[in-house]
Amino acid sequence: MNIAIIGTGYVGLVSGACFAELGNKVICVDNNEGKIKDLTNGIIPIYEPGLEQLVKRNYRQKRLFFTTSIKEAVMKSKVIFIAVGTPSKDNGDANLRYIEEVSRSIACHMNNYKVVVEKSTVPVETNTWVKYIMKLNNHKVDFDVASNPEFLKEGSAIDDFMHPDRIVLGVESEKAKNLLVKLYEPLKAPIVVTNIQSAEIIKHASNSFLAAKISFINAVANICEQVGADIEKVAEGMGMDTRIGKSFLKAGVGYGGSCFPKDVKAFIRIAEKLGGEFGLLKEVEKINENQRKLIFNKIEKALWILNAKTIGVLGIAFKPNTDDIRSASAIDLIKMLQDEGAHVKAYDPKAMDHARSILPNVEFCKNPYHVAKGADALVIVTEWDEFKKLNLSKIKKLLKHKIIIDGRNIFDPKKMKQMGFRYSSVGRPV
Ligand SMILES: NC(=O)c1ccc[n+]([C@@H]2O[C@H](COP(=O)([O-])OP(=O)(O)OC[C@H]3O[C@@H](n4cnc5c(N)ncnc54)[C@H](O)[C@@H]3O)[C@@H](O)[C@H]2O)c1
Repeated sequence: MNIAIIGTGYVGLVSGACFAELGNKVICVDNNEGKIKDLTNGIIPIYEPGLEQLVKRNYRQKRLFFTTSIKEAVMKSKVIFIAVGTPSKDNGDANLRYIEEVSRSIACHMNNYKVVVEKSTVPVETNTWVKYIMKLNNHKVDFDVASNPEFLKEGSAIDDFMHPDRIVLGVESEKAKNLLVKLYEPLKAPIVVTNIQSAEIIKHASNSFLAAKISFINAVANICEQVGADIEKVAEGMGMDTRIGKSFLKAGVGYGGSCFPKDVKAFIRIAEKLGGEFGLLKEVEKINENQRKLIFNKIEKALWILNAKTIGVLGIAFKPNTDDIRSASAIDLIKMLQDEGAHVKAYDPKAMDHARSILPNVEFCKNPYHVAKGADALVIVTEWDEFKKLNLSKIKKLLKHKIIIDGRNIFDPKKMKQMGFRYSSVGRPV
């Protein structure tokens, strides 16, 4: 099938490369000329495990193409996915200006029947607006709109795309449904077919539910910490109940990234606009914000005054195996530390290039040992495997004080104590 993907970011590039791998001809479009130039020169603009090989192979085999021209992509394709960003506005609403821009553009260049599919995460009823704006700009050519929210996770995006738990299709015509079902058939995954509004809500509700699970376990962790209980065991015991499930019960510094924070906000706003209030989600957000402060408080508790102290931060990406730092906990934490006058040294295996531009006063180091050297305390913010395998004896020698604050519970508190560290983690007895 001939497909266009508008927006070649984390979702667009992964989806495009995967659809090409399944044998389709895919044109990826982006209005960022530098990004498209890099991609045509074999430079992959983001880090995602396995993506480079997948993109290069499909580009070489002429199933994957890159362009800045929406016109070319629209004219040559039957199915057009919109995968542009939907960031938060200051009031929490999703900013849909890129969606609107692209919808108008698609409409202007349609030469025959197309299915225009919303893959970006959008508030319910966005597709109604997409359809309206497209009709306003082209009332001659027949088209369908559809919603196909994406559930991939950065860090395991290719595997998630190729082996999804489910595929959600919000459609309003048999023709669009048949085309999309055929496109996804090779994945042999369960397909939920529904109306467009339900598909849009499935995505917001899923992300908000997962964020709620994280905040829930963090709230429980804070109780554990006060009474000598161990959140890891509590989560294990809870997660074995199949009604609860094990995933997303990991206490830590809270959720971040380009999806959960903005999607929770947007869902709260939708409820408000419809005349209701999603108090539960407001609490989820509040717990998450407090969790970030909690790590800062632990650093203060260990060092008292932070002015002129050196704090080593391990991990900047919002989670391991990605270079994405959007709404990452580390950014907030580093800013809080700097506001108190601390000097921050930091290391991340993949995210430092992105971090440099928004954290100008941080001393970026070439490895975790350089971060530890002379630092008053070391803080773990992202649970990269590399950090789990640290030579702790070496770290101990390099640190000025043997203080480690582990925001991701990657070390065993007993062992850390035996080694002579002043170790503090989330929701576990020392
Ligand atoms: N990142 C994830 O893990 C993930 C997972 C599921 C869903 N989503 C959703 O998918 C959407 C995209 O997310 P992302 O992380 O890929 O964003 P991104 O910022 O990485 O990519 C968006 C791309 O769209 C391009 N773009 C913007 N306006 C354009 C235009 N007019 N024409 C062509 N290109 C344009 C940008 O240059 C950028 O490259 C969002 O709605 C997000 O919530 C993201």
